[in-house]
Amino acid sequence: QKRLTPTRISAMKGGKPIVCLTAYTTPMARLLDEHCDLLLVGDSLGMVLYGMETTIGVTLDMMIAHGKAVMRGVTKACVVVDMPFGSYQESKEAAFRNAVRILQETGCDAVKLEGGEEMAETIAFLTKRGIPVMGHIGLMPQQVQTAGGYRSVGHSEHETSKIRRDAHAIGGSGAFAVVIEGTVEPLAREVTSAIHIPSIGIGASSACDGQVLVSDDILGLFNDFTPRFVKRYDELGKRIAAAVSVYADEVRSRKFPAAEHTFKRRS
Ligand code: KIV
Ligand code: NA
Repeated sequence: QKRLTPTRISAMKGGKPIVCLTAYTTPMARLLDEHCDLLLVGDSLGMVLYGMETTIGVTLDMMIAHGKAVMRGVTKACVVVDMPFGSYQESKEAAFRNAVRILQETGCDAVKLEGGEEMAETIAFLTKRGIPVMGHIGLMPQQVQTAGGYRSVGHSEHETSKIRRDAHAIGGSGAFAVVIEGTVEPLAREVTSAIHIPSIGIGASSACDGQVLVSDDILGLFNDFTPRFVKRYDELGKRIAAAVSVYADEVRSRKFPAAEHTFKRRS
């Protein structure tokens, strides 16, 4: 296999920062593949592609459809597909069954699931049976309804010790890497040096072993809200709107289609 494997991602711990972005479709996967170590088919697609308010409504079938699409566009990067809400929390057996569906039906390299201590046993069950798993701790969007909204975590002593325990539990669970979302720099730095697997930060400072962001956020394609940790590298949304406005004007003024876009009868 020419793609980066979870094992090789794991071996990047403490080395060159691991570059990761989300991808949901074939054309975007093709564009990102060259530049990224890891592509994440995130359940953020519920909000970014489907206009949902949270990731709770995302289904296993949606994740599999987008996982397949991304796999068609990738030759180099390691591809991780998110397990959606409800597909792994009930039991480790259900988690295994659904993770197998994702791996078999998409051909991706690994799955990701949210949770700390409470999910460590499930991750161990999966990894011992041949399924590469990436963890996800700190801010966990699938728990937004019990956590009381999207806000950074690790400010209080209570939250800090919970995230510390989560990091150690996932670090020892067999996971090949862990996403740390929305937490303060000292804590991200501390847990990154305390665990032996790479930490992939999102809103978790430069102290992590790698970085991940939602591609549509950094490109200016998703504007419903922009968290503090997002850097905008382009404003593609504005550029699309400008292009479409010119098209609409040209259709209405019959400037488009011109002669070069028009079929002539052969004679
Ligand atoms: O769903 C997602 O995009 C994620 C990230 C880590 C960005 O889980
Ligand atoms: Na996600």
